[in-house]
Amino acid sequence: MWEALTADTGARISELLKEEGRAADFSVSFDGMLFDYSKTAMSKEARALLLSIAQSHRVEERRAAMFAGEKINETEGRAVLHTALRNLDGGPVEVDGQDVMPGVLETLARMEAFAEDVREGRFTGAGGPITDVINIGIGGSHLGPEMGTRALSPYHDGPRCHFVSNVDGADIADCLAGLDPRTTLVIVASKTFTTIETMTNAETARAWMAKAVDDPAAQFAAVSSAEDKTADFGIAPERVFGFEDWVGGRYSMWGPIGLPLMLAIGPEDFRAFLKGGAAMDGHFRTAPAQENMPVMLALTGLWHSHACGFPTRAVLPYDQRLSRLPAYFQQLEMESNGKRVTMEGDALSEQSGPVVWGEPGTNGQHAFYQLIHQGTQVVPCEFMVAAKGHEPELTHHHDLLVANCLAQSEALMRGRTLAEARAQMETAGFEGDELERQAAHRVFPGNRPSTTLIYDRLTPRRLGQIVALYEHRVFVEGVILGINSFDQWGVELGKALAKEMAPILSGAEDGAGKDGSTRQLVAFVRGAT
Ligand code: F6P
Repeated sequence: MWEALTADTGARISELLKEEGRAADFSVSFDGMLFDYSKTAMSKEARALLLSIAQSHRVEERRAAMFAGEKINETEGRAVLHTALRNLDGGPVEVDGQDVMPGVLETLARMEAFAEDVREGRFTGAGGPITDVINIGIGGSHLGPEMGTRALSPYHDGPRCHFVSNVDGADIADCLAGLDPRTTLVIVASKTFTTIETMTNAETARAWMAKAVDDPAAQFAAVSSAEDKTADFGIAPERVFGFEDWVGGRYSMWGPIGLPLMLAIGPEDFRAFLKGGAAMDGHFRTAPAQENMPVMLALTGLWHSHACGFPTRAVLPYDQRLSRLPAYFQQLEMESNGKRVTMEGDALSEQSGPVVWGEPGTNGQHAFYQLIHQGTQVVPCEFMVAAKGHEPELTHHHDLLVANCLAQSEALMRGRTLAEARAQMETAGFEGDELERQAAHRVFPGNRPSTTLIYDRLTPRRLGQIVALYEHRVFVEGVILGINSFDQWGVELGKALAKEMAPILSGAEDGAGKDGSTRQLVAFVRGAT
């Protein structure tokens, strides 16, 4: 289906931008945010084709099915309703004929009461009010609250929040060093409460706490769907916050998995975050496709990955506080759309979702942007920036940040011609062959695509909108690719083999059945002193 589009990928972006009104026409605005995709080689004809592809793949129908609580995660037989977690002002949402909203609101109220108790010092540790919170979780039980807590640090007025995810003991050791167990609250966040990294870290944290506190479990809370397992761990039910199987791990920061964020910024700002997500849901459900930000973000993504054939895309927030957003989007996009078969189980006839990577600007400019400007692979760049910062006394910093962001998208598009490079070398005093040689290195091909998402300021509401925007983008791309975006079977094999490997490394079992490379690596580990 991409052939007709592929034939249309040859336009020069700078030429397209000479068309009157292109910038406004190839942009979508919503609630104080502007998504500009005019610096891409997408022509009006290509956009029309992309929109017809969305229509023929029944994106609108699938969207209605998702919001209606149908079991669109077909391989796990589950509904996909993370949107219900932020549906504060909406109506009932039914799964199997049951309205889930009373349960959602009740859990939110319990989280809020607990967060207020902690923040106001009514819930204490053995040594007094809680000064530090450690969230132990991994993947979807870690990346969202970690990303959000960092993103919204100007709103942080609760206890300090720390995040431990890696089973590498270095992670928890570095976190615990310097913390007082008597004033620390540990949240064990795991939907399944079986994930080996999380359970290993949780036990280490409990042992650490037990050295200084008589009743360590009293300073533990859990976020999990597995109440029997949290009880076995010794966590009292009043500090267990559950969520249903219709909330996928990477879509879960809107509910109890967001507890550390709520503890940090307070329930009111957490609600503003939820309302931002809900506002994006409303927009996604009702705006016509061409004015629909998630739809156009998705179609631009597919244009680059499937029509132009660019295998990766970079997400480049010009915001140091969004430094974990690329990692968050990596899980959201790649765990969702990195699949090899269609919903029906047939091999995909095209590529799955692209590789997603990135770093905040301006740091990336001094690292990998060299390849983006002059490498032989084209990397579509998704810039993101707030017009205003949070530091009134440092506006000159923010102005420079914005200037850099805008300049990068311009430079990628414009490039520098050989004639311009030669003129530059002439001015620098070069001549003859050396001038030619030097000029060649200073040519930028240009015509490198980018999009920019710009908004006023990174508030809790804005963050909610951005996260929901990308969630729906992933959904639309998944529907068009025919993928189930809501399962993650691809992580299972590694987990199973890691379990098998542990007794081999300890020497309890021999690794005779393993391949030569694996046996060699095992021998190295066992031989190390
Ligand atoms: O890595 C696979 C995965 O299942 C993710 O999807 C999930 O977010 C993560 O592990 C953590 O799972 P849990 O919350 O059950 O510990």
